[in-house]
Amino acid sequence: MEEALVVVVTKSTQLIDMGCSWRLTCLHTKKCFYSEFFGGEMSWMPVCKLSAISDGEHLALNVEGKAVGIFMIEGQLHAIEDICPHAYALLSEGFVEGRTVECPLHEAIFDIPTGKLQSGPGCRDLNTYEVRVEGDDVLLHMA
Ligand code: FES
Repeated sequence: MEEALVVVVTKSTQLIDMGCSWRLTCLHTKKCFYSEFFGGEMSWMPVCKLSAISDGEHLALNVEGKAVGIFMIEGQLHAIEDICPHAYALLSEGFVEGRTVECPLHEAIFDIPTGKLQSGPGCRDLNTYEVRVEGDDVLLHMA
């Protein structure tokens, strides 16, 4: 017997097809549900427009309550957790040099593409997130 999923889309919800997955958003609470909660495989989330970021720049985003920094280095997008594990400074307010970011508070240095702590009191490596571009949409894999 096949299982069936019934999704009720009302005036207060919005169903967004993201290609490999979909997202259901409550327009009142802004709460989102993703297909993985219902057995899907992916949890790619559109987080910003590609046109909003240029090479050598970065953006600070709040993605489902997580602070995420998106950096474009030599044409490649990279996403890392934006809060320094040492004392919670915003790394997106730090100093970017090449492929590293220096924490603005106590100068820990992290490699942006890998999240690896390179020096200083950063405590641990940063979480990184996979990034994908579809048209002008930048998507993050948040699983
Ligand atoms: S807050 Fe980043 S090194 Fe201390």
